[in-house]
Parts: sequence; C-alpha cells; structure tokens
Amino acid sequence: MFEDMKCRWKKPWVMLMGATVLMSQTFGSSISSGCFPEEKRSLLEFKACYSDDSLLPSWVDDDPNSNCCEWERVTCDPSANHVTNLNLHGLYKHGSMPNHYGVFDCYGSPSLNSSLFLPFKQLRTLDLSFNCFGDFIWNPDNRSSLSLPSLETFDLSHNNLDEGVLEFLFGLTSLKNLILAANNFIGLFPGQGICRLKQLEVLDLGGNDLEGTLDICLGNMSSLRDLDFSDNSLSGKISTTLISSLVSLEHLSLYGNRFEGVFSLSILANLTKLKVLQIGDMDSKTFEVQTENPPWNASFQLEQLNIFSCNINSPTYRTPSFLSSQHRLEYVDLSKNNLVGEFPNWLLVNYTKLKALYLNGNFFTRYIKLPSDPILHGKDQLLVLDISSNNIQGKLPNNIGFFFPNLEYLDVSNNMFEGYIPASIREMSNLKVLNLGNNSISGSIPEHIVNGCSSLLHLFIEDNQLNGTLLSCIAKPGLYTLSASRNNFEGPIIAQDKCQFDFIFLDLSGNNFSGALPSCLNMSSAKIIYLQGNGLTGAIPEGLLNSNRMLALDLSDNNFEGAIPESIYGSESLTLLLLGRNQLQGHLSSQICELRNLQILDLSQNSLTGSIPSCLENIRFAGRRQFLNFPNIDIINLIPLNSEYDMFGFGMYAGYTKEQLILKGRYLLYHGYIVEFVSLLDLSSNRLTGEIPHQLGDLSGLISINLSHNHLSGAIPESFHKLQILESLDLSNNNLSGQIPLELQDLYYLAVFNVSYNNLSGRVLNGEQFETFDNSSYQGNPYLCWNNDNKCTPTIDDGKKGAAAAPHVTAILVLIAILWINPLPAVSML
Ligand SMILES: *[C@@H]1O[C@H](CO)[C@@H](O)[C@H](O)[C@H]1NC(C)=O
Ligand SMILES: *[C@@H]1O[C@H](CO)[C@@H](O)[C@H](O)[C@H]1NC(C)=O
Ligand SMILES: *[C@@H]1O[C@H](CO)[C@@H](O)[C@H](O)[C@H]1NC(C)=O
Ligand SMILES: *[C@@H]1O[C@H](CO)[C@@H](O)[C@H](O)[C@H]1NC(C)=O
Ligand SMILES: *[C@@H]1O[C@H](CO)[C@@H](O)[C@H](O)[C@H]1NC(C)=O
Ligand SMILES: *[C@@H]1O[C@H](CO)[C@@H](O)[C@H](O)[C@H]1NC(C)=O
Ligand SMILES: *[C@@H]1O[C@H](CO)[C@@H](O)[C@H](O)[C@H]1NC(C)=O
Ligand SMILES: *[C@@H]1O[C@H](CO)[C@@H](O)[C@H](O)[C@H]1NC(C)=O
Ligand SMILES: *[C@@H]1O[C@H](CO)[C@@H](O)[C@H](O)[C@H]1NC(C)=O
Ligand SMILES: *[C@@H]1O[C@H](CO)[C@@H](O)[C@H](O)[C@H]1NC(C)=O
Ligand SMILES: *[C@@H]1O[C@H](CO)[C@@H](O)[C@H](O)[C@H]1NC(C)=O
Ligand SMILES: *[C@@H]1O[C@H](CO)[C@@H](O)[C@H](O)[C@H]1NC(C)=O
Repeated sequence: MFEDMKCRWKKPWVMLMGATVLMSQTFGSSISSGCFPEEKRSLLEFKACYSDDSLLPSWVDDDPNSNCCEWERVTCDPSANHVTNLNLHGLYKHGSMPNHYGVFDCYGSPSLNSSLFLPFKQLRTLDLSFNCFGDFIWNPDNRSSLSLPSLETFDLSHNNLDEGVLEFLFGLTSLKNLILAANNFIGLFPGQGICRLKQLEVLDLGGNDLEGTLDICLGNMSSLRDLDFSDNSLSGKISTTLISSLVSLEHLSLYGNRFEGVFSLSILANLTKLKVLQIGDMDSKTFEVQTENPPWNASFQLEQLNIFSCNINSPTYRTPSFLSSQHRLEYVDLSKNNLVGEFPNWLLVNYTKLKALYLNGNFFTRYIKLPSDPILHGKDQLLVLDISSNNIQGKLPNNIGFFFPNLEYLDVSNNMFEGYIPASIREMSNLKVLNLGNNSISGSIPEHIVNGCSSLLHLFIEDNQLNGTLLSCIAKPGLYTLSASRNNFEGPIIAQDKCQFDFIFLDLSGNNFSGALPSCLNMSSAKIIYLQGNGLTGAIPEGLLNSNRMLALDLSDNNFEGAIPESIYGSESLTLLLLGRNQLQGHLSSQICELRNLQILDLSQNSLTGSIPSCLENIRFAGRRQFLNFPNIDIINLIPLNSEYDMFGFGMYAGYTKEQLILKGRYLLYHGYIVEFVSLLDLSSNRLTGEIPHQLGDLSGLISINLSHNHLSGAIPESFHKLQILESLDLSNNNLSGQIPLELQDLYYLAVFNVSYNNLSGRVLNGEQFETFDNSSYQGNPYLCWNNDNKCTPTIDDGKKGAAAAPHVTAILVLIAILWINPLPAVSML
C-alpha cells in the first residue's frame, strides 16, 4: 500500500487545477484575499502526491478565492501574501516510527522533487522532517536550480535521503539553520562543502553514517550556535583549535562516533555561551574525557550535560568538579563512566532545576541522603532519576516521595538497597516507571503506593526479598508491566472476581504463589507471561491465552491440571511455550502444529496421552535472535503513551516535535534484550504412544529433542540424520525397537545421546561423535551390543534406571545469550 505513495511529482498541474488556476492567474497576485497562484499550485501538487485524502484537509481549491495563506501548516507574510513558512513535518504516517531495532523503516518512501519549491521566493522556513523521503530530485545540470533566496531554516531530518543531497544544499546561501539528522548520509564528511555555508547558525548532521575527521575549516563558521554530529562514524582526534574557535557555540553534540584520544573539557573554557554538551559512547578504545587536567574554569553555564560511556577522568574516575559551578543544569547524564566514590548527593539536593539525572552504570557507593527539612519538599523539578547499576547501600530515604513528587521515572535497580519500600513513594502521582529490581528490599508492597502512584505503567521489583501478596498490585488498572520474579510473594495471584487485565509483560516466576487462576481471566493484551516455579493449581484458564500477540508463555513447575486450553492454539506468534512439570492431561492435540513460530516447546513431565503429531514438522523450530524489549523504559516517558503502545514498535513517537521531546538526545534510546533462543522440543515423561514420526527429521533447526520416558514404539527414524545442528537427543525409557540408524553418525554436534531402556537391537554406533558415549547411553537394551573387533559385547544394565543422562546435559540452556543492548542509539537528537 505504501508503493502507491511513491510519487515522483509528475502529475501535470494544469489538469489538477483547471480553470481555477487560470482565473487566479488572470487576476494576478495583487488580489489581497489570495496567495500567489504559483505557490498555491505547488502546494496542491505536493498534496496530490499523497493518495491519502485525510491529509491536509484544508488544502482544497474549491473556491477561486481560496487563500492558501489560510491553509494549515502554511504561513504567509501578512503584507505581501507570499508563503514564508511551510511546516510539512510528519506527513508520511510511518515516517516517524523506528522498527524493532530502532532504525527507521521507510517502506516505499516517496521522492521529493525539489522543483516544487521553486515558486516560493519568500520562503524562510521549510520543514520536511519525519517524512521518509527517499529521493531528492533536482536538475543534475543545474546545481543552483533550487534557488530559495530567502530560505533560512531547512529541516530535512528523519527522512531517508542519501548524501547526494548535501552538495545541492551547499548552494543555499541564505541558510542559517540546516537540520539533516537521521538520514542515510554515508561516506566522507563533506567538510569543505559545508564550510561554504559560513553563515550557518545550526548544523545538525546527527544520526547519519559519515566518516572521516571533523574538518578544521568548520572553525570559520563563527556564527555557529548548534553543532550536532552525534551518531556518525567520525574518527580521529577532536581538534582543539576547531572547537575553541567556535565562539558562538551553545550546543555541541559529538557522542556516538569513533573519535580517539583524550578530550579535555578545558578547551571549552572560553565558550561563554555553551549550554548543551553531549559527548561519549565512542566506538574507539582510546577515547576518554578529561575534566580535571589541565585545570580550567568554565565561563559557561550548562543546561544539559551528557558525558556517558567514556571513562571520564581515567584512571581516578572522579566526578567532574566543574559541575559544582553549573547551577543552571536541567539535564545531567554521567551514566556508564565507572565513576567511583560516594554517591554525589549534592547533585540531587543542590540542583533544584534538574529535570533528569542519569548516574547509572558507575561504581558509586554508600547512601542516598536527602535533607529531612520539610521546607525542601517538592521544590524539586526532577522527572527522571536513574541511579541503577551502582553499589549504593542502605535504605531508600523515607521522604523520597515528598522530595521528588514530580518523578515520572525512578530506577534504583541493581544496587544493594535494603529495608522496606518507603511509603512516601505514593506521593509520586505522576510516576510511570518504578524499577526497584535486583536489590535486597524486603517487606510487602505498601498498598497505598499502588493507589497513590495512579500513573504507574511499569513496575519492576524482581530479585528482592519482598513478601506478602501482590493482589493489590495485580488489580491495578493500566499496569502494563509487572516484573516481580524471584521474591517471596505468596497467596493467590489474582482475586477470583478479577477478570480483565492490561498486562503486556507479567513475570511472577520463582515465588510461592498458590491457588487457581480465575476461570474468567482475560489477558487480551499480554505478550509475555511467566508464572513458572510457583505452586499454582487448577485448570489453565482459556483467557490466559486470549492474546493473539502472545510471544512467550511459561507456566512450568506448577501444579496446573486439566487439558491444555484450546485458546493456546490461536496464539500464532507464540515463540516459547513451556508447560513442563505440571499435571496436565488429555490428548496431545495436533492443533499444536498451528503454533508455527514456536522455538521452544516443553510439555515434559505431565500426563499427556496420544501420539506425537507428525505435523510438528510445520513448526519452525528455528533458533533465532529475538528482540525482546521492555517498552519504553529508558525513554523517559515524558511523552504520554498513546494507544499505539506496542512493546515491539514505537508508535508513540509518531509526530512528536523537537520541543515536545524535552530530553532531547535520549528520547529514542531504549533498553532491550536480544535473546538468542535455541530451539528445543521436550515431550519427555508423558504417556505418549505410537511411533516417532519420521517428519521430525525435518525440524533441522532443533538443538535438543527429548522424548524420553514415554511409551513410544517402533524404530528410531533414519530421518534424524538431517537434524544437523542437534546437540542432544534423549529417547531413553521407551519401547523403541530395531537398530540404531547408521546415518545418525552424521550428527556432528551431538553431545548428549541416550537411547537406554528401550528394545533396540544390533550394534551401537561408533562414528566420531559416538566414540564419546559410554554404556550409560545404551544400557537396558538387551539385544544391543558394542561393536568391538567384530565381537558383540552386550551393553550392560548397571541397574541405575533413569540416571542415564550424561553429565553435560545441563550444557543445553534455554537462553544461550542475553545481551544488554543499552543504550541502542536509534536516532540521534533532532
Ligand atoms: C520535477 O518537477 C518539475 C516541475 O514540476 C518537472 O518538470 C520535472 O520533470 C520533475 N522531475 C521529476 C524527476 O519528476
Ligand atoms: C538554474 O536554475 C535557476 C533556478 O531555477 C535558473 O534561474 C537558472 O537560469 C538555471 N541555470 C541554467 C544554466 O539553466
Ligand atoms: C577557513 O579556515 C581554514 C583553516 O583555519 C583556513 O585555511 C581557510 O582559509 C579559512 N577560510 C575558508 C574560506 O575556508
Ligand atoms: C581562554 O581565554 C584565556 C584568556 O583570554 C586564554 O588565556 C586561554 O588560552 C583561552 N583558552 C582557550 C582554551 O582558548
Ligand atoms: C579558576 O578560578 C579560581 C577562582 O576564581 C582561580 O583561583 C583559579 O586560578 C582559576 N583557575 C584557572 C585555571 O583559571
Ligand atoms: C550544596 O548545598 C549545601 C547547602 O546549601 C552546601 O553546603 C554545599 O556546599 C553545596 N554543595 C555543592 C557541591 O554545591
Ligand atoms: C544485580 O545487581 C548486581 C550489582 O548490585 C549485579 O552485579 C548483578 O549482575 C545484577 N544481577 C542481575 C540479574 O542483573
Ligand atoms: C515479610 O518479611 C518481613 C521481614 O522482612 C517479616 O517481618 C514479615 O513478617 C513478613 N511478612 C509475611 C507476610 O511473611
Ligand atoms: C509456600 O506456601 C505454602 C503454603 O501455600 C507453605 O506451606 C510453604 O511453606 C511456602 N514455602 C515457602 C518456601 O515459603
Ligand atoms: C477480553 O478482553 C478483550 C478486550 O478487553 C475483549 O475484546 C474480549 O471480548 C474479552 N474476551 C472475553 C472472552 O471476555
Ligand atoms: C529428558 O527429560 C527427562 C525427564 O523429563 C530428564 O530426566 C532428562 O534429563 C532429559 N534429558 C536430557 C538430555 O535433558
Ligand atoms: C513394545 O513393543 C513391542 C513391539 O515392538 C510390543 O510387542 C510390546 O508389547 C511393547 N511393550 C510395551 C510395554 O508397550
């Protein structure tokens, strides 16, 4: 459908406008009610390019006097009626939505014919950002063909343009603000070209992939206020001469490149106007930021400082001292710098203008201390506080909620906090994300927190020593994420009369929950539910699996009874299904084959009957990387979540402007897990009968098959030799007969092989891999013998039935790897 929008702007305008245009032309531009006809014509031509009629509804030419100056997104000079400002931001509906990996995906994005803007001789501002424009068409024989003599601000950010457009822009000599962030510019940094635009005040090339060094000629741009090269691939040393000669600089963003060497902040000493400094996260081993040597005094007052992931002040790793003179700071990010020493409480207490403070990923120790004086309560503007992943001890201050009542995001995870959750957290009525995970916090969840924090969307309390029930938390409407695994919670999970939930991610595994889930349960939004390792009983409610977006369900290690609910078979996107170690009964339905995207199927240790469906071959069982991210967590939800809320998409960014994204620079960075699943099939310890379908041999993505402890009969399928990456095959404790297929010797990766306690005959295998398997793999097969020098020695039954698994069984893990991708720079700041 997006192909339709691929517009080359070839529509003949005469046909579109017809008589209307001719009429306006006749009366000329002197008509006070109208805008200039050629300008109007261009606007209509622009609109016609989008087949979407709901777009730009006021741009219609139904009346000869229709004045395009009155149209939405158009501003004219009131006296001359020339268009001066065109705000065509975000028209392409999908243009502002990064895909799972945070990369903009423009599908079949439209092209932009520059000739269209030629009539706008008085145009001062042209905003074409967030439109996914792929091509920029202009006359290659005439580089000055885009003559927009008045253009001062040109915003082409968040499109899909390539570097070819740059050369063309160099001719726009009146430009002051050039915003090209988040496009597809690759190759050498076009320094000399850019330097021709001496009059530039704003130059934003962030979020492209430019290489090379910062050209020294940039130093000639003495009017430059805002320079943003973040998230490119620039390398070399950052030139001291260059930076210190940019005397008008207010905003400098260089993070996310490959710059090398020591960058001493002393070179910024004389930039009196500097307000925003963003540096760090260099893809180079040698880059470090030095703030103490040589000594310097700042002549500026910063409002925003991001120095992250860059070894500040190695090897002492001391907190930058110049911060103590920066009283206007609103936004501080010193995350992931290995900073040491006591937690800098003064940053929290003395800087009352602070809106966001990121100190996560350092080695700060000792305590969080807030003054007890109630006069200071609520003075703070702080919206975001992230002190996760440090070594901070002690309790969370009792008055934390009174001190920071405006917090929307609080992350203290991965520290050593202990004691109870302070009741004052209830004062944070705008809190959206609370992360207390992985500490030693004890006691119960105070009910008034749940009631007080009425905005709470995501609650992380996993890996603590919390106890009591979670009933009030679970009942909280609008909670999308509850991660409460590995605590000491108990009692029923859900009150029997509660049915409807908004959870997208629910992890209550590893607690001591008991009782049955209500049969009316409706988890229609759920994507991930982990309840494993509790004492849950009763039937699995159909409504637990109501969501057709479900990705992972783990109910293993409980006492669930009854049949596998039918509703499960509708969850087409299900990737993980683990129901092992319960008391499930009934036939193993061939409907299970409808779950084509499964990678892990574990139904082991239940009482399932019937045979193994041959249609299992329809399931992908492909080990693959899966991007699992908690929604929005790092993104500081100053942006309200909208209904497009989606754990795997980021619809909520659509259409937000630079001004709305208060914490610019960080707004599209997010946490995520890349989880590498191996593919497993475990149907062991049930009551399955019949033969092993030869079709299982086509599940070539499987790493492990466990069909042991059933009543399977017949032969081991020869087709198993096609399971080329199989590492573990356990068929023990069945009634399999016949010979072990010789072809299995092809299974090069096989590390675990167990066919013990069957009815096999013939000889054991002795190919390369098979040399490593000893008697325990074969015992309990009276007619099976070792193939030694043509003498057949029967396999021994050492009597230890069931203890047959090889010691390295545990090497097969459910999760091979979990990589923290944080932050994943998606798109740089605007
Ligand atoms: C761009 O627009 C101009 C004027 O409308 C037209 O002459 C030209 O053919 C267009 N170019 C392309 C490639 O569509
Ligand atoms: C190049 O384009 C400009 C603007 O459209 C025009 O004024 C000029 O005559 C063109 N030059 C040539 C050589 O065609
Ligand atoms: C710009 O700066 C460079 C280096 O400082 C200098 O050589 C050059 O003459 C200056 N002027 C221009 C137009 O690049
Ligand atoms: C800043 O200005 C002072 C006084 O003019 C001068 O001594 C110093 O070298 C300058 N520092 C830098 C980094 O340009
Ligand atoms: C910084 O300022 C302090 C006090 O104003 C002064 O004593 C010191 O010499 C200054 N340091 C530098 C490097 O200018
Ligand atoms: C913070 O404020 C307190 C009290 O006003 C003051 O004593 C202390 O020196 C300040 N610390 C810093 C680093 O500004
Ligand atoms: C828990 O936090 C500690 C630091 O206190 C860290 O070393 C550990 O890796 C964290 N565990 C998890 C599962 O994140
Ligand atoms: C919860 O744990 C605390 C100690 O951390 C204990 O005093 C309290 O009795 C426990 N409550 C329950 C319901 O087990
Ligand atoms: C779990 O709860 C049951 C009661 O439901 C109780 O008997 C048992 O002791 C609890 N186990 C733990 C480890 O707390
Ligand atoms: C479950 O909830 C969804 C959304 O609220 C609703 O559309 C659906 O009808 C409910 N299903 C049942 C079985 O109640
Ligand atoms: C297969 O499953 C059984 C029981 O369900 C278990 O004892 C055995 O260790 C498993 N085999 C492998 C190789 O993991
Ligand atoms: C095992 O299979 C044989 C046929 O291969 C059959 O005669 C026998 O009854 C089966 N034993 C059991 C316990 O199912």
